[in-house]
Amino acid sequence: MTQTASPKTYRVKSFGCQMNVYDGERMGELLEAQGIAPAAEGEDADLVVLNTCHIREKATEKVYSDIGRLVKAGREAGRQPMIAVAGCVAQAEGEEIMARSPAVGLVVGPQAYHRLPGMVEAAARGERSTDTDMPENNAKFGALPARRKVNPTAFLTVQEGCDKFCTYCVVPYTRGAEISRPFSDLMDEAARLVDAGAREITLLGQNVNAWEGENASGHAQGLDGLIRELAKLPDLQRIRYTTSHPNDMTEALIAAHGEVDKLMPYLHLPVQSGSDRVLKAMNRSHTADSYLALLDRFRAVRPDIALSGDFIVGFPGETEAEFDETLALVDAVGYAAAFSFKYSPRPGTPAASMDQQVTREVMEERLARLQAALNRDQFAFNRASVGKTCDVLVERRGKLPGQWLGKSPWLQSVFFEGDAAIGDMVRVQLAEAGPNSLRGTVLA
Ligand code: 5AD
Ligand code: SF4
Repeated sequence: MTQTASPKTYRVKSFGCQMNVYDGERMGELLEAQGIAPAAEGEDADLVVLNTCHIREKATEKVYSDIGRLVKAGREAGRQPMIAVAGCVAQAEGEEIMARSPAVGLVVGPQAYHRLPGMVEAAARGERSTDTDMPENNAKFGALPARRKVNPTAFLTVQEGCDKFCTYCVVPYTRGAEISRPFSDLMDEAARLVDAGAREITLLGQNVNAWEGENASGHAQGLDGLIRELAKLPDLQRIRYTTSHPNDMTEALIAAHGEVDKLMPYLHLPVQSGSDRVLKAMNRSHTADSYLALLDRFRAVRPDIALSGDFIVGFPGETEAEFDETLALVDAVGYAAAFSFKYSPRPGTPAASMDQQVTREVMEERLARLQAALNRDQFAFNRASVGKTCDVLVERRGKLPGQWLGKSPWLQSVFFEGDAAIGDMVRVQLAEAGPNSLRGTVLA
């Protein structure tokens, strides 16, 4: 059995959040600049990058079983791929992975992947390495190659890391302190994305609305300033951003929602719980009421704004009455979309050692009730859109012949038939609503 010397093909498998998707794309570009091509669909790659997520549940076990599966497939094929472990599990448990898994050639953390090419070369010579350094600046963005052709919708990481230390969350430990990428770098990258075909850019950050920088004339800017400047790119048609923290919301960003046409009427604003006691124990530093009041300010400037949130059920000590407060908050908001999770104790976080951990059965039952409410509201939101006319940005072909799939301004999936191409913005009348998508007809 031989280990690939210098890999000729690669595959990146990204798990978890959109930030990992972005990082995965950037790692792919670095590898391609080194002459390593993406493996064809269905073919084994010489180099497999597992771009891991550590946010919930058995993350480390999953990485080991993925490694095991790759080794087994390699044994059957008589050729072992080079395995790279990247992402947040790499950051948190890199040394241990190296020690436990001889099949892993390199471990690279989310702040260090600009060194991936050199590490791949070293691994090809049989030198295994781990790099989980967290530089003070954004070194990893420094020497990235130009973007190749991109989809009509692209991600752009503007901010990374988190200083909030919610008591359940590993992000402050795996992604480090909050850092903003410089304004001019972002404008350059956005212009290149648009040149490469992007029509919509989603600005990414663990606390994206904490982004701060200086514009070309040295004036301090918040995310609203960056959005206003991006909106001036003629071929960029839509701007979104995610994920925000309620405490970093500024009056200026709220105002931008009423003033910048290209900023889409959609806001993902995690709340986690509707109980003030639980929110305090989570160290969220907002209350249910302050969160609702914040949403009202968005609605005042953009009445049609679609709202989305994140929820955790079964945080340690959460009582039935406290969970009911979450359901009440859901009823009060009427979310267009949402993500909800069972609390998962993360090693090293304060909540993991709190008393009164909630049992799995209780969590499952609460999650089912919460998701029923959220699904009901999402369906209601979609039904309320029927009859509206809106722009749809075409992202891909649908399953049926002649069918296309795109997104409405409110991030709903819209299917329609007719004359279109990927990247087109078409005028569609929304005709029929399902729980997860809508059907529309193209207007001439
Ligand atoms: N358990 C469950 N959900 C979590 N999240 C973050 N940490 C945990 C955890 N330990 C959820 C939060 C966050 C989203 C990205 O993941 O809802 O907003
Ligand atoms: Fe985690 Fe809280 Fe930071 Fe979000 S704000 S990344 S939930 S610590």
